[in-house]
Amino acid sequence: MRILNASIALSAILLCTLPLSAADTAAGKDLFAKKCATCHGPAGEGKDAIAKMFQVEMKPLPSKEVQAKSDSDLKKTILEGVGKMKPVKDIDAKNADDIVSYLRTLAKK
Ligand code: HEC
Repeated sequence: MRILNASIALSAILLCTLPLSAADTAAGKDLFAKKCATCHGPAGEGKDAIAKMFQVEMKPLPSKEVQAKSDSDLKKTILEGVGKMKPVKDIDAKNADDIVSYLRTLAKK
């Protein structure tokens, strides 16, 4: 009986962790800090030094201009790069969804 209970508990845990389709904002925040903040700053405001180095104007990620982009555009930016920004390494489609979900929390109200 004990073994049965344990296996029921185990499958319950597995069932809870399996559906990974929904974007995970917390994971996105973590990834942003690791993969994007070096260039975009901790709050996505953009870093002057990076903008100078690439000789571009970095749009603040919370700005209306960037937030006006669709989720799939933002995802594409992360996975394929845009302008002077190279595709971000070691990011898969699920990671990109999580990051996009986090980017939405930066939006200026
Ligand atoms: C090596 C530095 C660097 C890293 C790392 C980086 N970016 Fe960028 N990003 C840039 C630069 C430079 C631009 C401006 C590109 C241009 O306008 O030519 C930019 C532009 C953008 C834009 C605006 C796109 C547009 O169409 O205006 C978004 C959104 C963006 N980055 C998101 C991200 C996200 C999310 C990550 C992390 C997964 C990330 N970036 C990582 C340098 C970086």
